[in-house]
Amino acid sequence: MKYAKIIGTGSYLPERIMTNADWEKIVETSDEWIFSRTGIKERHVAAENQTTSDMIVEASKKAIEDANIDKDDIDLIIVGTITPDNAYPSTANWVQKKLGIKPIPSFDIGAACSGFLYGLTVANSMIKSGVAKTVLVAGAETMTKALNWKDRNTCVLFGDGAGVAILTATENKNEGILSTYWGADGNLGNLLMQPAGGSAMPASKETVEKNLHTVHMSGNEVFKHAVLRMQEAAMKSLELAGFSGEDVDLFIPHQANLRIINATIKRAKIPLEKTFINIENTANISAGTIPIALDQARKQSRIKKGDIVLLAAFGAGFTWGGITIKF
Ligand code: UT7
Repeated sequence: MKYAKIIGTGSYLPERIMTNADWEKIVETSDEWIFSRTGIKERHVAAENQTTSDMIVEASKKAIEDANIDKDDIDLIIVGTITPDNAYPSTANWVQKKLGIKPIPSFDIGAACSGFLYGLTVANSMIKSGVAKTVLVAGAETMTKALNWKDRNTCVLFGDGAGVAILTATENKNEGILSTYWGADGNLGNLLMQPAGGSAMPASKETVEKNLHTVHMSGNEVFKHAVLRMQEAAMKSLELAGFSGEDVDLFIPHQANLRIINATIKRAKIPLEKTFINIENTANISAGTIPIALDQARKQSRIKKGDIVLLAAFGAGFTWGGITIKF
């Protein structure tokens, strides 16, 4: 029987930083409003010519080095993103090309903020079933290129970046991914979406003029569902692994809003000091959030061998996921 474990991580955040004060000059907002409502102080912004795959390539090089493998050991690439380089081919395919990896299966997952956890869940199944042995899973976004920079309800909330994890097969059932829990509810899809650019509303002069190729969100409604689903994802994943909140050494939640994180840890009984929080400096990077946080946590020595790490996310779709890992 095979199991999947993470053997390397890497992340990349673009050089340019935009603070709340910078947004004050563009829309009617304030550092006080943004920080008190969300916990965000600043976010990274991709360069004009920088694509989602460019950032994944930077994160991948670090993850491959960290995993101490040859890039040709990788036999599957999965990318979680809702801001792909193009509608097609997949961003995963551009990553394969740019890394110079042999022709292996590569595909994207469009599960928004849950994209990386969906990717880990698929990679786990592929490894367990023997279809793949070593998988590169990325979560990455250039959200700032998909925002309406005049809409204060959404523009201040997001940032850009990429994170990567390399998974490989192990015979040891006491390490690696112990449980996966995921779900989706398409009935609520319209509460957070990009309306134009697909078959429902192909690109036209009008869709561009009306800013319909950008994030549209009913923030307040999304918030209520986010709190409930994040709690569900975290607690169900722990339950499936035979644990409770007290057993968690580090919790890495999706970082959409500090208030959502606080409500989740209260319910799941996970102490704040065992929760990884970077929203202040990164904002919400959708699918990029958790793999970047995971890499930062490892680099800051917040994860030791044998630690139980819980990941939980919620995003557009709606989608959600929880994963429990033993490092
Ligand atoms: O990534 C996964 C999915 N996304 C999420 O989980 C995000 C979930 N939602 C949220 O995090 C919060 O709902 C927001 C941060 C988006 C908004 O916070 P809120 O406390 O729910 O505020 P609200 O939407 O109820 O708006 C309150 C007020 C409104 O003014 P009025 O109508 O009360 O006069 C907004 O117009 O705040 C106003 N507002 C702002 N004011 C200053 C909204 N955005 C801003 C802004 N600066 N940037």
